[in-house]
This record gives sequence, structure tokens and C-alpha cells, in this order.
Amino acid sequence: MTQDLITFIGRFHPLWVHLPIGFLIIAVFFKAYLALGKKPTMQEAVNFSLLLGAISAFVAAVLGFMLSQSGGYDGDLLDIHLIAGWITVLVSGIAWWVNKNESRFTKKLNYAVMGLMILALSITGHFGGSLTHGEDYLTAYAPFGEKPEETKGRVLAKVEDAEVFTDVIQPVFRSKCQSCHRPGKSKGELNLVSYETLLKGGENGPVFIAADAGKSELIRRVTLSSDHDDFMPAEGKKPLTEEEIQVLIWWIAKGKADPKVSLMDADEEIIAWAKPRLNILGREKMIAVSIDTAYLKTLEKMGFRVRVLSHETGALDVVLPSDVAKEKATDLLKALLPIKEQIYWLSLAGTGIQDSDMALIGQLSNLKRLRIENNPISDSGISALRSLPKIESLNLNGTKVSEAGLETLAEIHSLKSLYLWNTAIDPQDVKVKKISAAGVKVVFGS
Ligand code: HEC
Repeated sequence: MTQDLITFIGRFHPLWVHLPIGFLIIAVFFKAYLALGKKPTMQEAVNFSLLLGAISAFVAAVLGFMLSQSGGYDGDLLDIHLIAGWITVLVSGIAWWVNKNESRFTKKLNYAVMGLMILALSITGHFGGSLTHGEDYLTAYAPFGEKPEETKGRVLAKVEDAEVFTDVIQPVFRSKCQSCHRPGKSKGELNLVSYETLLKGGENGPVFIAADAGKSELIRRVTLSSDHDDFMPAEGKKPLTEEEIQVLIWWIAKGKADPKVSLMDADEEIIAWAKPRLNILGREKMIAVSIDTAYLKTLEKMGFRVRVLSHETGALDVVLPSDVAKEKATDLLKALLPIKEQIYWLSLAGTGIQDSDMALIGQLSNLKRLRIENNPISDSGISALRSLPKIESLNLNGTKVSEAGLETLAEIHSLKSLYLWNTAIDPQDVKVKKISAAGVKVVFGS
């Protein structure tokens, strides 16, 4: 069998493993029902589900073995998972046999074997999960304990303390590369969790050459055309944005790949782009404390509808009803400036806002959802949205945006949904296709 075919078949392992898990657990429930409810007819069902469980566990183990041949999984975790998997196969087989010949054994032994089977199953499942999702997958978001630095990034006292590698590049690696390049699953033998491991390089040696971005494998991989075999991230995972690539290039070329080089030494545009992404101490706490209920009341008196989305982050949902706005939208909007970092959702549908009002909206740095449908907003107006690093949903139905505006929209990489019904934009436009291909849901219906 060719390696490709083995990998292809092996990849059914993660899907298939749910079968033995289900069969073996239902067997235990049947058994408990039998024991508690004294339903002797249930015995047949216990035997049958144990048999199915054992057979499907065997198939899962074979598939798993084939998958492990494709490489890229960590030795220790893999060994434990593999051994525990075969033990599960063996013990579930024994459990079936013991149950079938129940009369020859004590009840205690019968239960003990099934207990052992569930234990082996749990260990196998746990290590299998760690292999695919990372060792801290289960506990990373647990409500107890300190989160490891790797999952949340470090918190800085002030912007001036930020380092390009640790505070800007590492979070990018964390979200887009480490699913495949981390301890436990270092594809291409490359581990991207720290500067030291990055320095070690991958199976083909160093992945960067300080001061020479052009000769750095890391840069080559992320700048190839996305259908190239060597393109990273592999397997169609979300690619790096233009800005993320620029930071990497800057760090290697001008920053000489120094892990300590300060963000303040970087180019103006890089600093501007990176700043809102930093984890500055107290930024979130400060906002939480500063939910200024008196000010929110004032806004409500002016006619805004304000709702607190999260007391933790102080996030607000702000709506300006169209009947309130009547020609004075521009003045009303100014009242939002004192809380500009707290506005996560904003609806200004049909309020009559103009292109000139868009600059103000461009200052709402945490904005995630924006509804400005049914307003005379044109392409020049929406160019202000480029400065919003977090905008995910944008409703432009019934505005004057046209094909030219698509250029701006294509540059907003955080975007997830875009509503363009009742605009001059043709759904068949190649730029629309491009935006959809980048993972944005583009909606032309009402
Ligand atoms: C879906 C899994 C996956 C993701 C995500 C991923 N990679 Fe990879 N990477 C691989 C695999 C598999 C290899 C080995 C095969 C190859 O060389 O193409 C590899 C190899 C590499 C290599 C070459 C190592 C060597 O010495 O040959 C580099 C550099 C690299 N990746 C960088 C990145 C960067 C940077 C990211 C994030 C932007 C990333 N990868 C994200 C799967 C992935």
C-alpha cells in the first residue's frame, strides 16, 4: 500500500473511534440496568454490545496505527495512546468473553473487568485528545488554576514594553501555526512555541536567516501562492494576513530576528497595527470598572438604546433608532466618543448617516458588529472601516457602496459576514468571489 493510501485510510480513525466508545459505554449501562433492574433478558444485549465494542475497537486500533505512520505526532503521547488503545481492545474482548461465560466467574470479576475496560478506554481517549488538540486542551479554559503563558500570552504594563517576537509574532503562531507545530505534534519537526524551538528549525534545518528574509524558509512558506504544496499554514487553514506577514518580514530583515527587539523600533504602520492587539495590563479591568451607568442613562435619554453585553469586558450593544435620529445623527454620534472602546455592536440602520460620519465610527476600536444599512454611505465612507481591527459582521444593505468599495472590504481580514443586498454590487463580481473564498459569508438576500 502506498503511504498516501495508508494516510487516507488512517484519517478515518478520529471518526471511527466514537463507535467503540459508544458501544462499550452502552454495554456498561445495559449491565447496570440488568444488575439494578434484575432484567435477565438484558444479558444478551450486554454481550452483543461488548462484542461490537471489541470488534470496532480493534478496527479503530488498526486505523490509528495507520494514521500514526503518517508521522507528526509526539512520541511519548503517541506511545501511551497506542498501548492504551490495544489494552482497550484486549480488555473489551476479555469482558465480552467473561460476560458470555458468566456462570463460570464471580460477579466481582465480571464487574472488575468492565471497570478496567472503562479505565483503559478513558486513558486512551484522553491521550488521543491530547494528541490532536494539545496537552492542555481540556484544562486551558478551566475555571480553576492559572492559565499557562502559552495559551493566553503575556500581559504587559505598557505598550513600550512590547517585544516584536513575544508579543506580536507569538500570538500569530499561537493562533495559526501551533495547531501543527508544537510539542506533541511538531509537523516537519518544527516546533513554534518559543524562540528557542524556532531557532532549532525543522527537519530541513533552520527556518530563518537573521537579516535575510528573502532566504528564510519561514517567509518563503507563508508567501507562496496558497495552492502551492509548501504553503503554510497547510491544509487550507486560515492563512496569515498581509500585516502578519509584514511583521514577520520586518522582524527577520530589520529586527535581525532578535527575540528581544522592541515593538517601538518597528515601522510606524507595524506599531499602529500591533498596538490594539497587545495584552496591556488592566485594559480589560479598567473598562469593566468604568461602565459608567450614569453616562449610559444620559445616552438613553438622548434616544439611544444601550445594552450591556458583558459586565466582564464592559462591552455594549448600542442602537440608534431611525425615528430618533432625524437629521441629527451626526450630533448624536459624537456622544458615543467617551465610550468608544466599549461599543462592540452598533446599529445605525436608516439613521441618515453620511460618509463624513464614518470617520467617527472608524474610532470604535472594539467594534465587532456594525449595521449601517439603508443609509447614503458610499465607497469613500466605508474606507474608514479599515481601521477597525475586530469588525466581524457588517451590514451594508441598501447603501451606495459599489464595486470600488470591495477593495476596502477585501482588506478587512477580521470580517466574517457581509450583507450587500440592494447595493450596486453584482453577486457574480470576481472580487465578491475572492472575499467569499477568504472565508467571509457574503449575503445578497434580505
Ligand atoms: C495543518 C497543519 C499545519 C499548520 C497549521 C501549519 N503547518 Fe507548517 N508544516 C506542516 C507540515 C505537515 C509540515 C511538513 C511538511 C512540509 O514540509 O511541507 C510543515 C512544515 C513547515 C515548515 C518547514 C519545516 C522544515 O524544516 O521542513 C515551516 C517553516 C512551517 N511549516 C511553517 C509554518 C508556519 C509559519 C505556520 C503558521 C503560519 C504553519 N507552518 C502552520 C503542517 C502545518
